[in-house]
Amino acid sequence: MSLIPALSQRFSLKQFSSQKVSDEDINGMTEAARLSVSAFGLQPYRLIVIDDRDTLNALAAHTFGQTQLPSCSHLFIFANETEITDKTVDAYFDRIYSQTSAEAGSQAGYADYIKSYYAGQTPEQKVQVAQQQAFIALGSLIAEGALRGVDTCPMTGFSPAGINKALGLTERGLNACVICAAGYRLEDAVVPEKVRVPADEFTLRGLAAV
Ligand SMILES: Cc1cc2nc3c(=O)[nH]c(=O)nc-3n(C[C@H](O)[C@H](O)[C@H](O)COP(=O)(O)O)c2cc1C
Repeated sequence: MSLIPALSQRFSLKQFSSQKVSDEDINGMTEAARLSVSAFGLQPYRLIVIDDRDTLNALAAHTFGQTQLPSCSHLFIFANETEITDKTVDAYFDRIYSQTSAEAGSQAGYADYIKSYYAGQTPEQKVQVAQQQAFIALGSLIAEGALRGVDTCPMTGFSPAGINKALGLTERGLNACVICAAGYRLEDAVVPEKVRVPADEFTLRGLAAV
């Protein structure tokens, strides 16, 4: 199976139709995000799903007049954890010990290595790492949506402070770093022509060490 036909037909919608996306498709998209890769496997982000119309309209006030939120079926909010601490690492190893056959405590040395790695980073660097991982999950969610025929629009054109406040994310140790509206295109939607860096410029082959 190839992702390419699905990625070729998708585009970032500004306006959605009134058709709701099924729970099955939404769950498939959240699962694709959950199964995404992340540095060390820590997954220092969470995914919030909003489909309540009043909440979508309230959050639209923080998207600088963009038209996606008032019309979309669902909104995904990728929220990075605002701190990566020893607790983050311990929670990951708790998952390893409960979800795999690894014996409790058997990977303590590796856990210490990850803790010391992050201890050497500034809070800003750790937030950046958390956000980078969330963006990878965003890509998986968009691709899964495209495979299922669900249209999306990833967005950083919003006020994180506004969305954090509206949903009480700061109190949960979370920060909205990228959002993604989902739904279906209007029947008469004009599909924009794809504009991408040409393949022969995008992929550099045959480079040798100098
Ligand atoms: C991280 C990110 C942020 C984006 N933010 C916005 C946004 O705030 N508003 C918008 O209309 N599109 C936004 N886009 C969509 C891009 O403009 C779009 O993906 C790009 O122009 C390519 O077009 P296509 O997705 O239709 O193929 C964003 C895309 C990404 C990946």
